[in-house]
Amino acid sequence: MSASPSVEFFPMDLPEKGVLVVFAGEGAALAGSVPAAIADRVARAATTNAFKGKSLATLDLLAPGGVELDRVLVVGLKSDTAYGEEDWLKVGGTIAAKTKGAEAITIWCDAADGALAAVDAARIAAGMLLRAYTFDLYKSKKGKKAGDDEPEPDVASAVSFAVADVAAAKAAFETEKAIADGVVLARDLVNEPANVLGPIEYADRIAALSEHGLAVEILDEAAMTELKMGALLGVAQGSPRPARIAILRWDGGPDGEAPVAFVGKGVVFDTGGISIKPAGSMDEMKGDMGGSAAVVGLMRALAARKAKVNAIGIVGLVENSVDGLAQRPGDIVTAMSGTTIEVLNTDAEGRLVLADALWYCQNRFKPKFMIDLATLTGAIIVALGNHQAGLFSNNDELAERLHAAGKTTGEKVWRLPLGPEYDKMIEGKFADIKNIGSGRAAGSITAAQFLQRFVNDLPWAHLDIAGTAMGSPANEYNQSWASGYGVRLLNRLVADHYETA
Ligand code: BES
Ligand code: MN
Ligand code: ZN
Repeated sequence: MSASPSVEFFPMDLPEKGVLVVFAGEGAALAGSVPAAIADRVARAATTNAFKGKSLATLDLLAPGGVELDRVLVVGLKSDTAYGEEDWLKVGGTIAAKTKGAEAITIWCDAADGALAAVDAARIAAGMLLRAYTFDLYKSKKGKKAGDDEPEPDVASAVSFAVADVAAAKAAFETEKAIADGVVLARDLVNEPANVLGPIEYADRIAALSEHGLAVEILDEAAMTELKMGALLGVAQGSPRPARIAILRWDGGPDGEAPVAFVGKGVVFDTGGISIKPAGSMDEMKGDMGGSAAVVGLMRALAARKAKVNAIGIVGLVENSVDGLAQRPGDIVTAMSGTTIEVLNTDAEGRLVLADALWYCQNRFKPKFMIDLATLTGAIIVALGNHQAGLFSNNDELAERLHAAGKTTGEKVWRLPLGPEYDKMIEGKFADIKNIGSGRAAGSITAAQFLQRFVNDLPWAHLDIAGTAMGSPANEYNQSWASGYGVRLLNRLVADHYETA
């Protein structure tokens, strides 16, 4: 959303201006390629400042005399254990933060134990782009310095990477940039207020992604009525803004191969309906479409990096509002699957939206697996805080793959149980099932059990991202309320296991 720096890759020649970023390993050891004058300066400063090259520690120095640079920024890199995907983003985010406002910076991609891999340099660049993100669309004066004609850029405006293999770094950056753009799209969608992003506007934005080679199909209310999506439509009926389902398709894999599928909760605003939410922090419910935003961002990323996979994204876009036609507690709706549902709490709406979206997805596309993402329950925040998403799955292999992808991307997941004892808690009194459990016990699990009622015998995972899609703590590569959580996690899952060579 905010201005992001230009990123270029060059061979390893010393620049003549701006800030030079060099990496230091254990004991502040530098690469042999760092010019002696600079290495000397760093060695002396490291002693005085007790700089030991600890991971992500920095040392900001004036350039030594005789060198045509302004500053040298030393950044600690851990060399004893390999960095994962997220660690490189943190390196980039740290550099961006420490060089804020600089005109030109050059990152010297060589370390004491050897040159950085092309993909690692590219991930540093992606970390800088993600750090540069702010949602300032509605700020009359961009940036911090009020009164200026031109706001101060959040990060350096031009970033150069001095790398061993320019072509390889450029190619790697195309991929990493595609992923970062997907994350930024997800953040933008979550940050956008609900008056601007209703279901129709959201569907329009998704349709515009065809520019990246995605095939997009939109189902309107008539189409959903035809399909008998009574669960989703019941949620939408209290809002004058009609619901939509968007189906995104990326065919990058072999013809006819079953797709992988991602399904997202896209409640553009959740008032709670007649079971209305308390006023405090209700504004945050503009982010109740975070699951859908992750799906949309992921699909954009897969398309932009031309992933060798067939993938489907399905998002249910509705507003859970409250007017004279809104559904009431006690109403009974019939889902597309034929299952009847007692709506005992109109604020448990996400599962109603997903019930029809999941059923539609598995029956129409017969995917290899389905993963749904949803800001589904407050209870998951009670359990896991804002640090990990809840994972529920009927398939150990899929769950383990997600867990591994979470570890390297830093978009962590923690598995919680499913089971018949929990399923019993959603048995209906007047209908097949009810949309809440009994009391507050195991709230995130009973929500997941509800979803499982709409999943047949195929590998499925549910990610409850109520705590991670928004309001998670700021870090090196995200300073925004909306994190874009899920895009990198699922991109990694696809890249590691579901792409043809
Ligand atoms: N969108 C909310 C869950 C949520 C809460 C997301 C906080 C992000 C932050 C969801 O629709 C909801 O209201 N869930 C209820 C379920 C309850 C009525 C069984 C909840 O968690 O309280
Ligand atoms: Mn709700
Ligand atoms: Zn909700």
